[in-house]
Amino acid sequence: MPTFSNRVSTFGTTIFSEINVLAAQHNAVNLGQGRPDFDTPSDIVQASVKALTDGLHNQYPPGNGTAEIRKGVADHANRFYNLDIDPDRGVLATAGATEAVFSSILGLVDPGDEVIVIEPYFDSYVPNLIMAGAKPVFVPLHPPEWTLDPDELRKAFTPKTRAILWNSPQNPTGRVFTVEEMTLVADLCKEHDVVVISDEVYEHLVFEPAKHVPIATLPGMFERTVTIGSFGKSFSATGWKLGWVYGHPDLVAGAMRAHQFVTFAVHHASQIAGGYALHLDGSYYENLQAMYTTKRDLMMEALTGAGIKAKVPEGTYFVMGDFSDVFDGDDMAFTQHLIKNIGVACIPPSPFYCEEHRYIAGKLARFAFCKSDATLKEAGERMRKLKG
Ligand SMILES: Cc1ncc(COP(=O)(O)O)c(C=O)c1O
Repeated sequence: MPTFSNRVSTFGTTIFSEINVLAAQHNAVNLGQGRPDFDTPSDIVQASVKALTDGLHNQYPPGNGTAEIRKGVADHANRFYNLDIDPDRGVLATAGATEAVFSSILGLVDPGDEVIVIEPYFDSYVPNLIMAGAKPVFVPLHPPEWTLDPDELRKAFTPKTRAILWNSPQNPTGRVFTVEEMTLVADLCKEHDVVVISDEVYEHLVFEPAKHVPIATLPGMFERTVTIGSFGKSFSATGWKLGWVYGHPDLVAGAMRAHQFVTFAVHHASQIAGGYALHLDGSYYENLQAMYTTKRDLMMEALTGAGIKAKVPEGTYFVMGDFSDVFDGDDMAFTQHLIKNIGVACIPPSPFYCEEHRYIAGKLARFAFCKSDATLKEAGERMRKLKG
């Protein structure tokens, strides 16, 4: 009997699913997957409930998204980044940022093209490229500061390079790249006529004094960049799976062509609520950052108490810890030990690297701090045992 295709034959179960199962079995405090364990703000939920009950939203929404979400994304990009986005042709609503990345790759990259991937990378990028028939070309960030080596980056650009998958604020390192760092990327993209697929889902999770600057705002970059956002990250609603792509209409058209035959359209009521949420005033975002700054500090306290070294994240709700002072083994063994013997779950980062660069993750673990303060304190208490 025929089974699955060659295309997916190398894909295992995602590390997040594996860790969630193990964490549940051992009743561990789960700092693994980046899913908030607190509620979406109630006014946003109410906007969705109203949309579901007003009798207008049981039909397929427009393929590129409702007018509400498209205007929300365009207005938001204008308010925060002074970008002039066409809500009709320059925005596409997707099933989370995950689909936004995949539809962008399918719509902008051809089989055989090379696509630069910065490591450690978000786990769907490489399978997405494989499914599109493209070739990932890996460039690692260097710990402990998680910087790019300009020569390594330069060498990765070849005549076959079609795109770079850019992610800032970066999961899992917590880096928010500086304008200087991004200027190097931008210059190389312009020199080699390369498209940027810019995953900016953590755009509002940035800690002072870091500042998020979309790469599309650098000179000459708007024409060659699609930018991706996530309702789940900005509004603590990962389960709603709503995301978007915005940018130059000629590039968004590529993502749209793919999207219409991937999902066609996405959940109507969520898009209405998304349009509402994107128009919330500045205090919403200030409160979000303040809340996450407290959580980041609690997370850092927990790591310090456990004897785990880490660069304080500049953004996102992740931190990469170096456990070499308290555990003798690799990231996979450490994760098992932490879950089974200490009662805390984290993510081993080696699956976010190619074979050649996997050694970089050997003594590292990723912790997610999008959790209630009580959960973070409990994790800190349990992790103290590591030092002992
Ligand atoms: C860097 C990055 N991109 C994309 C996603 C996916 O976002 P969504 O849940 O909106 O599909 C995530 C989720 O963790 C992420 O960390």
